[in-house]
Amino acid sequence: MPDSTDLSAWWMPFTANRNFKEAPRLLVSAKGMFYRTSDDREILDGTAGLWCVNAGHSQPRITAAIRDGAERLDYAPPFQMGHPLAFELAERLVEFSGRKFSQVFYTNSGSEAVDTALKMALAYHRIRGEGTRTRLIGRERGYHGVGFGGISVGGMANNRKWFGSLLAGVDHLPHTHDPARNAFSKGVPIHGAELADELERIVALHDASTIAAVIVEPVAGSTGVLVPPEGYLKRLRDICTRLGILLVFDEVITGCGRLGTPFATDYFGVEPDLMTVAKGITNGCVPMGAVFVKPHVHDAFMQGPSAAIEFFHGYTYSGHPLACAAALAALDVYDETGAFRQAASLAATFESELHALRGKPNVIDVRNIGLVGGVELAAREGQPGARGMDAFKRAYERGIMVRVTGDTLALSPPLIIDAAQIHTLCETLGEVFDDLP
Ligand SMILES: Cc1ncc(COP(=O)(O)O)c(C=O)c1O
Repeated sequence: MPDSTDLSAWWMPFTANRNFKEAPRLLVSAKGMFYRTSDDREILDGTAGLWCVNAGHSQPRITAAIRDGAERLDYAPPFQMGHPLAFELAERLVEFSGRKFSQVFYTNSGSEAVDTALKMALAYHRIRGEGTRTRLIGRERGYHGVGFGGISVGGMANNRKWFGSLLAGVDHLPHTHDPARNAFSKGVPIHGAELADELERIVALHDASTIAAVIVEPVAGSTGVLVPPEGYLKRLRDICTRLGILLVFDEVITGCGRLGTPFATDYFGVEPDLMTVAKGITNGCVPMGAVFVKPHVHDAFMQGPSAAIEFFHGYTYSGHPLACAAALAALDVYDETGAFRQAASLAATFESELHALRGKPNVIDVRNIGLVGGVELAAREGQPGARGMDAFKRAYERGIMVRVTGDTLALSPPLIIDAAQIHTLCETLGEVFDDLP
């Protein structure tokens, strides 16, 4: 294990750097459901890494595809050039979406996918002669990555307050978290569909002719697992359709089987105009993101002279050959192993194990859907987040990896988890709560 001075050069993201480097948690290898630490302990992965390793770690087929891909084609420029894997993958992804979408635009991360989708929405309206539609509507407690677009429409104060005035012309829907009415809901909470009508209030203030898009996570993950109230997403969809506003679902967490379906749009039966995906698209093995696009949006761009660039946007690594190789292999693995069916069939077990934590000390809410769960603890007096962080560290010491956001512990295990491992995760969390001050 390196000593603490060796750790100083990496300024780590979203990390209490000094605190971490005093007592580092270093992962040195991973296989299936487990990480191995630098002090040679096995850690049961309750979070699929960072919501991304849905098919489990070091999946041999994906690893081989990356190795073979690197030997065949290390890099190909994506501007005015292409390579076969990128086209093959795009077609597979369209198919994977059940042909709800007709095109994909590649990025390298969820943040880039979000900023791409927002730019697409703005350009779409302008191309169609509705250039007054420049406003973007996000939601309180939303997380859409860390680009300026994403933090502007996002709704987590700490991700916004340090960074100046952000994008102009952004407004926010209220969040849907309502513990007074919905605490300990199993799956979709009953109360709160009417919160979607707040969009009408925002429209009344600004006028629909100024609004380009609404972006929401179908299930808000990073803010502590907020499941949408029954009927809420459909209501948002209806208002957007009626008023000519594009609806963007940010499926960076919910995509690729997390709810037991390919995407949350399939789970809820509500279709957005644009959908952002990342993380599980390559099983987390190579950075990649994508925006899935409906035909009416794509086709609006394809009107000018055919020699003209239609969308002035893209990345050096859009459709990187290694990412494409990894994603194609990940799709094969998801398909052939029946990973999503497995997730769907375990959802009820996951729900009952998780809700068994109700009644443990300081547990004030349990939320779940598919293979995502959140357990919220009461905050310590004057120290929001401290109890959650303490629980996270103690859980790691006891051999399980969970995610902490504020005082909520989130679980999103690889979809290959089995019932016994779900039990271990939840039982260990319960033991942590029993001892937690
Ligand atoms: C819903 C959502 N959107 C966007 C992002 C940003 O993705 P990335 O960290 O790959 O930029 C995340 C990351 O957790 C996310 O959960």
